[in-house]
Amino acid sequence: MVTLTINSKKVRAKENSTLLEVCQKLSIPIPTLCYHPDLSPHGSCRLCTVEVSENGKTRMVTACNFPVREGIKVETHSDKVLQARRILIELLLARCPRVPFLQDFAREWGVQKSSFKTENPENNCILCGLCVRTCNELVGANAIGFSKRGTHKKIGTPFEIDSSRCIACGACEYICPTGAVKMEMDRIREIKHSDTGILRICRYARLGLIDFMICSNGFECWRCEVDQMIEDRFGTHPVFAIKPAHNKQPFQVNGFTFFPDLFYSEEHIWAKPIEQHIRLGLDEMISIFAMEADSISLPPKGSALKKGQVLAEIRAAGKKAKILSPLAGVVSVINHDVEESPNLAWRDPYRRGWLVMIQPDRPEELFNLDSGEKAKSWFTKEASNLTTFLMKGVPQSSKKDRSPREPLIGKVIHQQWDNLIKILLPPKNERRGK
Ligand code: SF4
Ligand code: SF4
Ligand code: FES
Repeated sequence: MVTLTINSKKVRAKENSTLLEVCQKLSIPIPTLCYHPDLSPHGSCRLCTVEVSENGKTRMVTACNFPVREGIKVETHSDKVLQARRILIELLLARCPRVPFLQDFAREWGVQKSSFKTENPENNCILCGLCVRTCNELVGANAIGFSKRGTHKKIGTPFEIDSSRCIACGACEYICPTGAVKMEMDRIREIKHSDTGILRICRYARLGLIDFMICSNGFECWRCEVDQMIEDRFGTHPVFAIKPAHNKQPFQVNGFTFFPDLFYSEEHIWAKPIEQHIRLGLDEMISIFAMEADSISLPPKGSALKKGQVLAEIRAAGKKAKILSPLAGVVSVINHDVEESPNLAWRDPYRRGWLVMIQPDRPEELFNLDSGEKAKSWFTKEASNLTTFLMKGVPQSSKKDRSPREPLIGKVIHQQWDNLIKILLPPKNERRGK
């Protein structure tokens, strides 16, 4: 737990919770537009801006993605904060002047009109990213994303390619606060005309929530009794009613953590698309090289990384492991925290221990990596081999209650280095098929 001060009151909060979560628990109202509790925070609308003072310095931060810290002082409704929020609302109103939802929202904040220039009065997308995150994180289809930059930024298919990934679940349309998403109907029509017989499965089956159900309603969910029952019961779209519990949580596979929403490569690198970039990191198995690492070298920002080139070189006690990149692109961001504390890549490989972000040369190559069930099956085989090796010498009776990462703590990794290289990074022709 950490202790912080919010609006002059001392409060205790769970470590790693965000300021927004803490304020919501305390019923302190903070406006949000791009936040959804089932999705990762995006920090794009900035309406949740609050003032944070720490070590004698005060700055504005977005509460939805700012983790609470010991001793910070937070002001959620200072004049500066309220002024900043009104300016942000004016900017949104200038972007989408004809969106009724936004007009109402602005009125609630006493903003009648915007003093900023409107470029395109027909624009109705505030770029909150809710649709993109819903499709990527909950549905797992990765069918839409942001494209272009700056004032030309818009929602479309990822990198403007491959719309066939859309399963027409309608979740993006449901979550869009402005009514900007209408794209599902085209896809529904496409599915309607192409899928017949046993291929004509309903959206619950397409979402993987049930094994099989043929749609007898022409993919018009609003005519379906099951759909109506779910909506009445949960008061929301099936994706939000059922999917978060279904597929958001990481789970253990043979003692190692598997995140179902990531892409995986046989070099034991995970990849996650984030807007026009792809974040890369070590999976929990290969991260054992970082456990007692002296250093992790990453390619410099701005460098061109080729597929198969060294993405990370981990050194420990004179040994080194070279981990190769599964994708080509320009390195856009480096995680300096990992360079400074190499074992962060072992302690928290999927979150704070990520390695780099790249702007991919050929974005479509991301989809050559494994995801979902295929990735899980490869991960299972790899984790099983590694667990067998790491558990050697652990008495049978205590094996079942222990994670392989526990005996690992008692081992000196650099003494096992060559064996681990053989297990985790064998030459390409000796790899276990994915
Ligand atoms: S309708 Fe298509 S684009 Fe929208 S969330 Fe579902 S799969 Fe993604
Ligand atoms: S289409 Fe809707 S949900 Fe998607 S970014 Fe734009 S406003 Fe947000
Ligand atoms: S809700 Fe925090 S930035 Fe949008």
